[in-house]
Amino acid sequence: MTIKALVFDAYGTLFDVHSVIALAERIFPGRGHALSQLWRAKQLEYTWLRSLMQRYENFETVTRDALVHSCEALALKITSAEFQKLTDAYLHLTPHPEAREALQSLSAHKRAILSNGCPTMLNPLVQNAGLSEFFDHVLSVDELKIYKPDPRVYRMTADTLGLAPADIGFVSSNFWDVSGAGHFGFRSFWINRSGAIPDPLGYRPAAVLAALTELPAHC
Ligand code: LAC
Repeated sequence: MTIKALVFDAYGTLFDVHSVIALAERIFPGRGHALSQLWRAKQLEYTWLRSLMQRYENFETVTRDALVHSCEALALKITSAEFQKLTDAYLHLTPHPEAREALQSLSAHKRAILSNGCPTMLNPLVQNAGLSEFFDHVLSVDELKIYKPDPRVYRMTADTLGLAPADIGFVSSNFWDVSGAGHFGFRSFWINRSGAIPDPLGYRPAAVLAALTELPAHC
């Protein structure tokens, strides 16, 4: 089976969401790790809840709401300047160390990003990381106003690429995203950098990889 295009998730897959820990640690010594973990968990939870409730707000709002809640839940008093710095950090997340090399080595394939991020977050992020040259498309769920893993989002991606789902390789470190894309019909690869346990969501990934640089061997 030949893969004609590769579609990458952004947050967690290409970019390290926990690169905000350094700044969070400076603001709240000893609490940066906990804040980053809860912030990310709540951010994802709110995307799913808002999709189910049909009350879409973009990823910028959801990310801000998740930070407000996480600070409150952890009893961390944050100033508006610190809040702004932390949300700005999301535009400057560090790419995973192997991302550039992997994207370079996949240059024979059409490459795209599909993210829950809205264009006002996603485009500066990709640009600031110097990764724009690698992508033919940077797609956001924002045009459909529903979050992954709703199948309509993956459908929009296949339609934009003009390819059958089976011709598309989908790459994510988020198992729920791998499952959603896989159930839709993409050939889904799970980037499991931390040796996580898969969730029983009824989909077995095409391959489980420890790093993005293992992808070319499967494409
Ligand atoms: C993304 C997040 C959810 O879609 O990982 O980029």
